[in-house]
Amino acid sequence: MEEGARPMREGHASRTAEQNALFRALESSRRADQRICDDPLARHFLRWPYTLVMCVAAIPGVATSVCWYIDRRWPGVRSSVVARTRLIDDLIAGALDDGIDQVVILGAGFDSRAYRISRLAAIDIFEVDHPDTQAAKREVLKRLLPSPPEHVRFVAIDFKQDDLASAMSGAGYDDSKHTLFLWEGVTNYLTADAVDSTVQWCSRASAGSQLLFTYVHRDVLTRPSDFVGTQNLFRSLEKARERFTFGMQPSHVPGFLASRGFSLELDIGAAEYRARYFGARARAMRGHEFYRVALARAGRRAA
Ligand SMILES: C[S@@+](CC[C@H](N)C(=O)[O-])C[C@H]1O[C@@H](n2cnc3c(N)ncnc32)[C@H](O)[C@@H]1O
Repeated sequence: MEEGARPMREGHASRTAEQNALFRALESSRRADQRICDDPLARHFLRWPYTLVMCVAAIPGVATSVCWYIDRRWPGVRSSVVARTRLIDDLIAGALDDGIDQVVILGAGFDSRAYRISRLAAIDIFEVDHPDTQAAKREVLKRLLPSPPEHVRFVAIDFKQDDLASAMSGAGYDDSKHTLFLWEGVTNYLTADAVDSTVQWCSRASAGSQLLFTYVHRDVLTRPSDFVGTQNLFRSLEKARERFTFGMQPSHVPGFLASRGFSLELDIGAAEYRARYFGARARAMRGHEFYRVALARAGRRAA
């Protein structure tokens, strides 16, 4: 099979999407004055064995040990996901202040922002994801929400095979609107071609639209042992059939985006965004430093 074309576990929701929901659920169960992010819906998306992890963490005094164990086995992953959830929540608030008309969440997984951020209920949201993950999410949403969310449209596609443009126009997406594209935790699982065509498609949106995405430093693919914690992480990703297949050198990102109609406004690594939200506690956090969050704006295509 072609490099990067190996599917996720067929018929199953993305395991890494569930893990992110677990990390958000654990953080959200902390006291309001201690937590970094708050996602009260996250725990509802969990299935065995993550439901068991939450049950154990609910025993008084045990949650800290559960997080300690996760951090020891997979250094930096949990804290990075928690801090980036908060960073992206804050950047979405900025985009809403900026007057965006619609949000496209690419590879949405168990992202619950469409349902937990009240200001998003007033605009159109498109949740785009692999059919297997999206089906699992919609099953849970059916039980969780009193009625189907009218502001959300679901688009089920495989970024590596399907045509995003026709799927989106079929779903009512309007590229003349001021759009925020959120692409969190996905590019590292795709092929270079799938990343390229998706960014090209996003760049057709009206000038001023924003692309908020994550990527991994290219070196973690070629020299994983240079980074703390990659041995266990890569073993788990292999088991989930969601191994890293795409990364970029941060110094190449401005040029990559400029040639596809975007200008880079922000590009920060996990160590930096952990420090922003965890403060002094971030000094003891190691691992996942290769993970990055970037924000770019459409409308300044290079000649
Ligand atoms: C790590 S999860 C991230 C989920 C969510 N955005 C978050 O940050 O929690 C990766 C997501 O990408 C989706 N995904 C991976 N490969 C895909 C593909 N080829 N086509 C469509 N979606 C894909 C998975 O279904 C999953 O929802």
